[in-house]
Amino acid sequence: MTYQTLKLEFYNKTAVVFINRPDKLNALNSIVMSELKHCFTELKKNEDIYVVLLTGSGEKAFVAGADISELNNLNMIAAKEYAEKGQEVFALIENLNKPVIAAVNGFALGGGCELALSCHIRLASENAKFGQPEVNLGLIPGFGGTQRLTRLINSGRAIELILTGDIIDAGEAFRLGMVNKIYPLTDLMNKAKELADKIASKGQYAVKQALKAVTICDEVSGNEGLKFEASLFSLCCGTDDFKEGTSAFLEKRKPAFKNK
Ligand code: COA
Repeated sequence: MTYQTLKLEFYNKTAVVFINRPDKLNALNSIVMSELKHCFTELKKNEDIYVVLLTGSGEKAFVAGADISELNNLNMIAAKEYAEKGQEVFALIENLNKPVIAAVNGFALGGGCELALSCHIRLASENAKFGQPEVNLGLIPGFGGTQRLTRLINSGRAIELILTGDIIDAGEAFRLGMVNKIYPLTDLMNKAKELADKIASKGQYAVKQALKAVTICDEVSGNEGLKFEASLFSLCCGTDDFKEGTSAFLEKRKPAFKNK
């Protein structure tokens, strides 16, 4: 499948999705959003792909936000539909049932920050910048930023970022817990691929259950979460991979997982 605003590369068990509008700093217009929806729907179904990497084309931006030329035309009715459609695409990414790693290679502002927040792991280049500057446009985040940022980091810092529109560098984002690791821009994709390979080398049945257990954590009470964890733990114990993983340890050899 070829896309107008996305570029796709395949590497081992990983799909790399580039948002590919570098002349507009990869801003999310309606074409990007509908192509992201199509692309992630296909990747969800693709059993040969275990991990997805998401990044921006060029050296300057991951995604510099929703496309402001489209925002400028919204009225109240269209705006609600616009936000809900965006939220649907980002929820698809969050619930992909396979890990999505954001390789944040520059500006991740507004919808770009929200897109990174909907991924499961965020790696950043040293030049990456994060922020929710919607307030500067007379707006608030509409693709999940008020919810995901507040759950991910200290709520006081989340509110401060959303109310001031301040843009923070990768180091500050790391200190706040928004990114897992920071690398020089030239190393970012190789490091992201290394991480993807490491996850892809595990039993994918267990990877999927772990992702489900962690993702549900924001939606259920602590006790419900523990019950859910116990039932997924039990499902893992019924798999060939569980027998293989435990036997390989005891026999002092590498496991050969079959993902079932
Ligand atoms: N929507 C639409 N176009 C955007 C965009 C956005 N969110 N962000 C950048 N662009 C476009 C610019 O209009 C410019 O297009 P042009 O060359 O046709 O004029 C191009 O991308 C390059 O951006 P430019 O502003 O010239 O780069 P810069 O290095 O001077 O500044 C930013 C970079 C990220 C600080 C600046 O582009 C910016 O503030 N962007 C908007 C960020 C934002 O508010 N995002 C939240 C939206 S809800």
